[in-house]
Amino acid sequence: MRLALTPDQLLTTTRAVRKRLDLTRPVEPEVIRECLEIAVQAPTGGNSQGWSFVVVTDAAKRQALGDIYRRGYEEYRRLTAAVAQRILQDPARGAIQQRVISSSDYLAEHLHEIPVFVIPCIRGRLEGKSSREQAGAWGSILPAAWSFMLAARERGLGTVLTTIHLFYEQDAANVLGIPFEKVTQAALIPVAYTQGTEFSPAPRESLDRVVHWNEW
Ligand SMILES: Cc1cc2nc3c(=O)[nH]c(=O)nc-3n(C[C@H](O)[C@H](O)[C@H](O)COP(=O)(O)O)c2cc1C
Repeated sequence: MRLALTPDQLLTTTRAVRKRLDLTRPVEPEVIRECLEIAVQAPTGGNSQGWSFVVVTDAAKRQALGDIYRRGYEEYRRLTAAVAQRILQDPARGAIQQRVISSSDYLAEHLHEIPVFVIPCIRGRLEGKSSREQAGAWGSILPAAWSFMLAARERGLGTVLTTIHLFYEQDAANVLGIPFEKVTQAALIPVAYTQGTEFSPAPRESLDRVVHWNEW
């Protein structure tokens, strides 16, 4: 399936999809391959291409990663409880925050039921690295991850970039046989067909608050 979105439609309607993922419809391995072929057209620092993509379809491994994610999610909710409470009480942001929490709770609960996970990885470990080195590493994997998500959306698939399982990255590495001391996981991207294919641009802060011309 191809949605034939214009480039601007694709870029403005690729949402974090959680509740609208179709948990019952299988995703063909060829479609994942097609999206990954597009992903590896992304740039990397020095054209290093030190990336790997672990595609997980095995039910027992998805269950194990789902359990790791849920442990991480509990930790995340505990660490961010005070900030989340403040945002919930803000009249301008409370309703959106409530929706994000409900959607995130749903994802945590159902993660293992999502048919495919893609875990983009980058060579090396980043602990203790300078911000220049970190920028080089993250900047050599996240553009590819986003390209994958855009290519998926064009094919009727929904995705959401998640990082919560990285609270227990080593445990996830053990589940998947990733050599933790040499390879960093950048995200876990659940992939499924969406229920309906219409998505809209999301509300964002006004550009004037975030753009600086010539000086900060
Ligand atoms: C670096 C990063 C980490 C994220 N981690 C998670 C996560 O662990 N779990 C989750 O449900 N969403 C996660 N998200 C998704 C964001 O919540 C989502 O992109 C944001 O709410 C905007 O969604 P929208 O583009 O549909 O408005 C993450 C997004 C980014 C960019």
